[in-house]
Amino acid sequence: MFKMSFWLMVFSVCCFMTPSPKGEVRGIVFGLVCFFVCLWSFLEITTSSQYNDSIQAYAAGAVEAAVTSQLIYKHWMNTLMGYCGPFTTQSGYCERLKAFITTNLQWVQEQIEKQPSSPYWYQVRLALLQLKGLEDSYNDQLSFPTGPLCINPFGFLLFQLSGDLEDLESALNKSSQIRPLGSGSCSALIKLLPNNKDLLVSHDTWSTYQSMLRIMKKYMFAFRVSPLGSLSPAFSSYPGAIFSGDDFYILSSGLVTLETTIGNSNPALWKFVQPSGTVMEWLRNIVANRLAVTGKDWAEIFSKYNSGTYNNQWMIVNYNHFTPGKTDIKGELFVVLEQIPGQIVYTDKTEELLKKGYWASYNIPYYEDIFNASGCNELVEKFGPWFSKDQNPRAQIFRRNQTAVTDVDSMIRLMRYNNFKEDPLSKCEGCIPPANGENAISARSDLNPANGTYPFGALKQRPHGGTDMKMTSYWMFRDYGMMAVSGPTWDQVPPFQWSASPYTDLLHMGHPDTWAFKPIKVCLGFCWKILMCVSLHCVSIE
Ligand SMILES: *[C@@H]1O[C@H](CO)[C@@H](O)[C@H](O)[C@H]1NC(C)=O
Ligand SMILES: *[C@@H]1O[C@H](CO)[C@@H](O)[C@H](O)[C@H]1NC(C)=O
Ligand SMILES: *[C@@H]1O[C@H](CO)[C@@H](O)[C@H](O)[C@H]1NC(C)=O
Ligand SMILES: *[C@@H]1O[C@H](CO)[C@@H](O)[C@H](O)[C@H]1NC(C)=O
Ligand SMILES: *[C@@H]1O[C@H](CO)[C@@H](O)[C@H](O)[C@H]1NC(C)=O
Repeated sequence: MFKMSFWLMVFSVCCFMTPSPKGEVRGIVFGLVCFFVCLWSFLEITTSSQYNDSIQAYAAGAVEAAVTSQLIYKHWMNTLMGYCGPFTTQSGYCERLKAFITTNLQWVQEQIEKQPSSPYWYQVRLALLQLKGLEDSYNDQLSFPTGPLCINPFGFLLFQLSGDLEDLESALNKSSQIRPLGSGSCSALIKLLPNNKDLLVSHDTWSTYQSMLRIMKKYMFAFRVSPLGSLSPAFSSYPGAIFSGDDFYILSSGLVTLETTIGNSNPALWKFVQPSGTVMEWLRNIVANRLAVTGKDWAEIFSKYNSGTYNNQWMIVNYNHFTPGKTDIKGELFVVLEQIPGQIVYTDKTEELLKKGYWASYNIPYYEDIFNASGCNELVEKFGPWFSKDQNPRAQIFRRNQTAVTDVDSMIRLMRYNNFKEDPLSKCEGCIPPANGENAISARSDLNPANGTYPFGALKQRPHGGTDMKMTSYWMFRDYGMMAVSGPTWDQVPPFQWSASPYTDLLHMGHPDTWAFKPIKVCLGFCWKILMCVSLHCVSIE
């Protein structure tokens, strides 16, 4: 604790709602208290420019682990315990993965040393220092690294690599893989309200139900070498992760960035997944958020050193180019990027957004080049139009229902919509029974019967679905505001309950039994400071 208090001095950590005499303890106490009220914990970390950038980054990680260690422990147990651990049955794959990660870290380290004045590698180094601080502090082994960074390949790096691993498993021939065929990961909708009254941006994470311990985070770094983009991101995140992972970010640059996963179904492309010359997706994502001023900048920076892992459709909304009520928008409002191994395509899609009034994203590539190259034609041939851009159930539901979105409430209703038993668009050809809980904006795969017949993995019964909803608007984003719901949808279907589900034996430490929570207004900006820091006596540790 003595060592820790030195590092804590670097910060004013403002963590949370409940008053508590001890700063270090409060985060944890709050995490539990809030958890049962709103299912989100909140974390804000502010660093001071009195300290050099390296210390700020390392200490930011150290402080985060100190205040969230219990959540980190539970989240590790729920989601990563045993992953390439001592009792793994996947030792061949794990050896290959370890070699891959180690070589990649080495290559990254070399670039950092070779190019000390590059803003890109400078931010990569700070992000790795933050990760190092997080892990050292959790293990109670704080020691500011002065030489090259030594990162444990199977430590907290795995929390950051969760998306990258989906593809590394395929590229490195893991025999049983996380991702069933066609498994969706996230829905997103960007909706221009009639007469350009507002621009709403929303995202549903789709994931395993074991990953539902959540933290809303806001970082405020005061790096002396300050990039032009944003050092103050607000984002939905997880214990132990220093980026979003969902992904959903509100940035001080005026950008809102988000993605849904498109994956890669063409095995011939895995040869582009190499440990040298590449930067893993989670790092490219952090660096692009920090350095980019415009959507195009963001896409350019993110495209460098494509790892071919965590292959996503990214949407970059630039609110600097939006004024409510004004209809003569020139462009630069909206950029869409798609990544697969060996290839990235991005263009400005402002015109299409203005023309159609919305952009929907549902795990299927938009760009024909990407669609073709990643093996989607073969999927359509083999399994039918479910895999096509226009006929996928969510494409059709978004198309039909987006016209009814006129305000924040109707947007939330659509993003939480799952009426699979009644809605004809949720029907699955070739499934018995035909109604399928996956075929909705917010999936509930747990509700598909175990003894059903399904043409491919994604449609089976699984502990998987939409696990949250986040939404921001022109009026909210400027103060880091959003609406957020945690847990699977229960608007038209019964709430998910661990003990009544087929998954009661899956580890879900720290979860409530029944997930039935309403949307809350989250504000991580000025209003939050007033509410949390002043009226509720959140003490600064100085
Ligand atoms: C930052 O400060 C620490 C502690 O004083 C020092 O060890 C380190 O070399 C400094 N880093 C840089 C990049 O100046
Ligand atoms: C994975 O398997 C394919 C096909 O058997 C092979 O060509 C490739 O080299 C393997 N990759 C690795 C990393 O072992
Ligand atoms: C993609 O594939 C479709 C179907 O095979 C073909 O008609 C189309 O020309 C291809 N487009 C591109 C850009 O390769
Ligand atoms: C979506 O459209 C269907 C069919 O019109 C309707 O029954 C349903 O209520 C709509 N859902 C939402 C959330 O608007
Ligand atoms: C699946 O199980 C349910 C209830 O356990 C039963 O009613 C139904 O007939 C079964 N369906 C099939 C196809 O076996």
